[in-house]
Amino acid sequence: MAVTETFPELPLFDLRLREQDLQAVAQTLRSGWLTMGPRTAAFEEAFAAQLGARHAIAVSSCTAALHLAYLAAGVGPGDEVIVPSFTFAATANAVLYCGATPVFAEIVSREQPYLDVEDVQRRITARTKAVCVVHYAGYPAAVDRLRDCCDARGVALIEDVAHAPSATLDGRKLGTWGLAGAFSFFSNKILSVGEGGLLCTDDDDVAALARSRRSHAMTSGTWDRHRGRTDTYDVVALGYNYRLDEPRAALLLSRLEGLEADIARRRELTLRYRELLAQVPGLIVPFADADVPGSSCYVMPVMLEREGTQSEVARLMREHGVQTSIFYPAVHRFSAYRARFPDVSLPISELASATELTLPLYPHMSEADQDRVVAALAQAVAT
Ligand SMILES: Cc1ncc(COP(=O)(O)O)c(C=O)c1O
Repeated sequence: MAVTETFPELPLFDLRLREQDLQAVAQTLRSGWLTMGPRTAAFEEAFAAQLGARHAIAVSSCTAALHLAYLAAGVGPGDEVIVPSFTFAATANAVLYCGATPVFAEIVSREQPYLDVEDVQRRITARTKAVCVVHYAGYPAAVDRLRDCCDARGVALIEDVAHAPSATLDGRKLGTWGLAGAFSFFSNKILSVGEGGLLCTDDDDVAALARSRRSHAMTSGTWDRHRGRTDTYDVVALGYNYRLDEPRAALLLSRLEGLEADIARRRELTLRYRELLAQVPGLIVPFADADVPGSSCYVMPVMLEREGTQSEVARLMREHGVQTSIFYPAVHRFSAYRARFPDVSLPISELASATELTLPLYPHMSEADQDRVVAALAQAVAT
């Protein structure tokens, strides 16, 4: 049965695979070996090299990488992990997987929508095991100051780098500032292959734990047994099935070659967006032009100055064929979180969530497409 998809005229994300990407997957399918094996290992090596990290461990999602990172930081029942609420739910969900408590901290402002270091400091207690920083939209958070703060208090720093492959702060890649970094290769991400993730670390013990737990903490894998390395195995801890598979590893390896060119184009488009959006009254455009070179420019967020207009502006843009999204509804306001943590109040995160709209951005977007998005936005905001 043929499956057809319908997309908006100007979608938020649009993925175009090159012929060589398709060939890499086809070759893998023909090889007859589909679960984690040599292509996964090759991708890990290439990813670690471009990142400048000692270890890269490919897993089934960024959520899985966050779970393993928290476990490696020793997070367990009774512990707390400080996270932003202005993020995707996975950052906090993975804390709950460990039986620990996410403690939500405030962002700096709508112009700088990342963790406020002073607020994090205030929320550190004897139970705090880790802080997880999110590099929202691909822009570096104040990870240098957070690291100093975490080091001073003996707390692990984890980076949720789902948005920020190859982004840097002071020339150092994001994901390499703390104990571990967690990347996403989900469908709408910069290095997308449908589903996938990766944990990076310089710490040998963290790497060993992640490698073991991603495959049920078995002492040997199916690929080892296939090559006759061993014909049995032990299970030495509680592990998970967080394995990546070979077709996606092959696609990642092939797409990694185009990563820097993709990001360079995203930066050009972002700077042009910023120039156009500066002419539109009623908007706050987070970050500054000077932040763009260090960012991977994953998405183009804007904040509407007027509260209460978000859904109407989104609706008017949809009428013009332009898809928008909200990055992100505050996690502590979701039903499942309100039920557990009814007293959390984070006014800046709540305001950001109630006024944010994410505009279409993808490397092959044309300048005419951008002009259309900005014209539709200007008209909708003025209505
Ligand atoms: C900030 C952030 N963290 C974590 C995730 C989870 O990634 P994944 O879907 O690969 O589990 C996402 C996106 O989906 C995200 O945007």
